[in-house]
Amino acid sequence: MPLQEIEAGRMRLNYQDVGAGPVTVVLLHGFPFNSTLWRPQIPALAELHRVIAPDLRGFGASQLSAEPYTIARLADDVAELLDALGLRRAVIGGLSMGGYVAFEFFQRHRRRAAALVFADTRPDPDSPEARADRARMAELARSRGSRAVVDELLPRLLSPWTRAQKPEVERALREMMGAANPEAIAAALMAMAARADSRPLLPQIEVPTLVVGGTQDSLTPADQLLEWGRQIPGARVELIEAAGHVSNLERPEAFNALLLDFLSSFASTWAQSP
Ligand code: MLT
Repeated sequence: MPLQEIEAGRMRLNYQDVGAGPVTVVLLHGFPFNSTLWRPQIPALAELHRVIAPDLRGFGASQLSAEPYTIARLADDVAELLDALGLRRAVIGGLSMGGYVAFEFFQRHRRRAAALVFADTRPDPDSPEARADRARMAELARSRGSRAVVDELLPRLLSPWTRAQKPEVERALREMMGAANPEAIAAALMAMAARADSRPLLPQIEVPTLVVGGTQDSLTPADQLLEWGRQIPGARVELIEAAGHVSNLERPEAFNALLLDFLSSFASTWAQSP
């Protein structure tokens, strides 16, 4: 899957752009991953749809710039990517930090979100304790590098089932996270700590929405996901058995089936124009 690039703000943003079809889906990766997170989704979706998966600023092959690093900036990067591709609207989907970006995209560019997918994420902001922990971890990334952050985060990401049955998922994540730039890790941690409270947006979301998460996600627990997901009018809220926080990698067949079914529910009526 070749990477392509655009200029966004004052930096180079890389992205994968695969497939064609009535629906364009933008997939936003979590922290501290990159667009290869979506390796199991891209070919499956691209049989029917156009799939665009950027490396968010500082991750994968996208540059880190001197501009302030905020979730709002990441959302504007997505809007600039759509501009560069001549796309007025797209389905915007994100996992975890990618979900925070999707909420912010809806806040800032809502007419451009034709539909939304929130995977293993949450609309509420960090608690003071969580913010302090982000600052500690940012310092860890700067002083001891990405691997130290991976060692701390990785055990929390996957379900016990995945760790026991699919060691290759843990290996792939370790590699992806270990390759992340420590400066981008620190910048993204502080951006997540400062993110807005997206809960007031929930009742305002009027486009088709899929909320999905793992039943064993310890970072964005299933009961909370069901609770906030149901505040989005008409949203489809689904749990994936035995999956943890990276449900798209842990149970790709189940995740793809939900996503494809969701996209097909409006693909025939969806047009690029408003
Ligand atoms: C992620 O997977 O993107 C992170 O767990 C998000 C977070 O730390 O809040």
